[in-house]
Amino acid sequence: MLFAEGLLGQSKEESERQERQIRNIIADGKKRICAEIAEPDNPHHLPESPQIGDSWHFAGCDDKYGLKDFPGRIPGQIVENLLHFYTEPFDLIVDPMGGSGTTKDVANAMYRRCVVSDINPVKDGIEKNNISAEDFLPSQKRCDFIFLDPPYFKKKNDEYAKKDDHADGSISSFEKDGYLKFFDDLAKKSIKALQPSGYLALVMSNFVDEDSANNSIWIWDYVDRFNHAGFTTIREIHCDLTTQSLHPAHVTQFKEEKRMAKITRSIVVFQKGLD
Ligand SMILES: C[S@@+](CC[C@H](N)C(=O)[O-])C[C@H]1O[C@@H](n2cnc3c(N)ncnc32)[C@H](O)[C@@H]1O
Repeated sequence: MLFAEGLLGQSKEESERQERQIRNIIADGKKRICAEIAEPDNPHHLPESPQIGDSWHFAGCDDKYGLKDFPGRIPGQIVENLLHFYTEPFDLIVDPMGGSGTTKDVANAMYRRCVVSDINPVKDGIEKNNISAEDFLPSQKRCDFIFLDPPYFKKKNDEYAKKDDHADGSISSFEKDGYLKFFDDLAKKSIKALQPSGYLALVMSNFVDEDSANNSIWIWDYVDRFNHAGFTTIREIHCDLTTQSLHPAHVTQFKEEKRMAKITRSIVVFQKGLD
């Protein structure tokens, strides 16, 4: 209710009529602006590297988005394509492990609202929040799309977890049980924070323990957790790391040792509220 009944001395019917009128004005304005944004000569109507299938390839990170030297920055083109397929202008996009703010930069460029947080914010516009200990921020609730790009298990521990005191609680320092429990809880918090029919995208790689196979963590281990919390899996997209991102010395080593380098990366998209 925008106007409390009787507050301005009007009847309940009059309050409801005014409320309907205001909502219609907002909806009309939104429709008009969406139509303008969708004009073909508007640079924001499509991602610059639009992907057609469900195997995505990008040459590297577009430097318009995020911070260049941030460890684990992803290509903003991933976010561009996800927002293109799963959101509309003005939708509220949320990233609770936002790193260098790639998601926010893309959302701004595509006329989406966005609230990004991180345990260790590195620039203005990123809120501070430890999502393993706390819930989503109040400003992140009732969102339309959640983007999750967590630190992969046992990766970048030095950069994220030990850089400074603010990073205490970074999930990159967690052991396997704690790490998986974090995803159990995150899935439950996420489904509460999303609007009905909202989407969630998780960027993740397999953790393959070649010495002890039972210690590996696979994409489906995460998917199970999100399904268990009530999400429906609607898409798996492959977006492999490029072999150029491997150090040449490692490439030689992998060849010599007859081992496979780990370059697979998945983006799993879920939706809330489907049967
Ligand atoms: C892979 S990076 C995200 C990179 C980001 N997508 C970008 O392009 O810059 C993962 C982020 O998760 C954050 N993080 C780790 N544990 C966290 C926690 N408990 N709460 C909030 N953020 C956390 C780290 O600080 C790091 O910035």
